[in-house]
Amino acid sequence: MNDFARPLAGHSALIIGGGGEGIGRAISRAFAAAGAAVAVADIDPERAGAAAQELTGRGARALALAGDVRSPSDVDGFVRRSADEFGRLDTLVTVVGGQVAFVPAVRLHEMSDGDWDLAYEMNLRYVARAARAAIRVFLGQGGGGSIVSVGSVAGVMAAPMQAGYGAAKAGLNSLARTVAAEYAADGIRMNVVTCGAIATATANAEQAGAEVPEIPLRRLGAPADAAAAAVFLASPLSSYVTGQSLVVDGGVTVRGPFEV
Ligand SMILES: NC(=O)c1ccc[n+]([C@@H]2O[C@H](COP(=O)([O-])OP(=O)(O)OC[C@H]3O[C@@H](n4cnc5c(N)ncnc54)[C@H](O)[C@@H]3O)[C@@H](O)[C@H]2O)c1
Repeated sequence: MNDFARPLAGHSALIIGGGGEGIGRAISRAFAAAGAAVAVADIDPERAGAAAQELTGRGARALALAGDVRSPSDVDGFVRRSADEFGRLDTLVTVVGGQVAFVPAVRLHEMSDGDWDLAYEMNLRYVARAARAAIRVFLGQGGGGSIVSVGSVAGVMAAPMQAGYGAAKAGLNSLARTVAAEYAADGIRMNVVTCGAIATATANAEQAGAEVPEIPLRRLGAPADAAAAAVFLASPLSSYVTGQSLVVDGGVTVRGPFEV
């Protein structure tokens, strides 16, 4: 019988990029509220520490980890230290990503090789590396595991001025399908929370709470909207769901050419 009140009770999770004020922090809070022990990894040690302290203050087990997803040893270390601290690891969540924060928004013919590589590195390469490390832990401990990655509608629609970001996020959906197929028999699932525009401290902040006519549900998403999807995909509530993209976009990707 599923625990609908605390669907992650007894679980332990690593959230990479969980320390800021955006989607990752909302996921950290939601996972703790759902009953999980949470390791918060972030490039900013103060953000990771503040997030872990907040969760501990709410009665959850929490661990702060500082490191950079561009460092292979940091990524492997996030996974190893989480599993060591909690005794096992049930869920990996990858949140870090983006393009405009890291590289200029330009059309493809103006994009440098370095910028392309950075978009790939920040949105897909580290995710594959973290997933590999988590899968090794899941296989070693037995009992399966779940991987949830924060993706974007830029990976399923055109991504003007963000070609590298869009291609990398599309690759995330492919990675989820492949992991799903390769490890289904081991009880390991991977799914993507495909976000539309979410209002965070660093993105779309001025439109938070405003009426947005272009979006069928008339508003931007909140970090908590993405977090609710992540809890579902991490938990046994979604035990028959793998390799999927759960689109959290207020209906943008299903809007047709006709006005309602
Ligand atoms: N906000 C949106 O509108 C939106 C839309 C679609 C998809 N997304 C996706 O959501 C995810 C997070 O977005 P957000 O808006 O919450 O971002 P954010 O900037 O609020 O949070 C990202 C966190 O990652 C940390 N971080 C940055 N670089 C890092 C590195 N090299 N190593 C480790 N940690 C690092 C930051 O310190 C921060 O705490 C991304 O994958 C993004 O593509 C966001």
